[in-house]
Amino acid sequence: MVPDPILLLKREHEMILDRLRMIETAIAPRAGGPLLRGMQRVRRATTEPDRPTLRELLRFFTESTEVHFKREAVLITALNRALGRTQKDRNRFENLLCEHRTLKTDAAGIAKTLGKSTADADPLRIRSFIELFRAHLSCEERILFVLAGTRLTAEQRLRMSRRMLQV
Ligand SMILES: [Fe+2]
Ligand SMILES: [Fe+2]
Repeated sequence: MVPDPILLLKREHEMILDRLRMIETAIAPRAGGPLLRGMQRVRRATTEPDRPTLRELLRFFTESTEVHFKREAVLITALNRALGRTQKDRNRFENLLCEHRTLKTDAAGIAKTLGKSTADADPLRIRSFIELFRAHLSCEERILFVLAGTRLTAEQRLRMSRRMLQV
């Protein structure tokens, strides 16, 4: 049975959001070991994230999200063809494809930094990656998926599903 293409993409969004949350947890400052200051024991907040965990989580974004991006490219092509969108809509879709490239480059850049033990893990850079990704997913759900759900015929959706499963 061929899955509904929008349902498939939404499920993938859930997986991506889960991973983003895990990364967020991994970079959150946490209480470190006790630190002796004078006679007082104080808790030290460590900001250095657990690099092996982060590297593993990042791998999802450098390897697995590629398929999701390709499936969305299939959806955008189908929408452009079916709806003959205005230039404004086309630009909006083009922006989403452009963001895929940015997100891929960002993930690769962060992963590269994490691979070097001497380089700083830079939580700020990771946080802005998370924000950009969340904004991207939200935009797709509000615009792209709604259009696909309301403007494509069952037949068009079925064809799109088949194509998505081949990428
Ligand atoms: Fe996307
Ligand atoms: Fe997406």
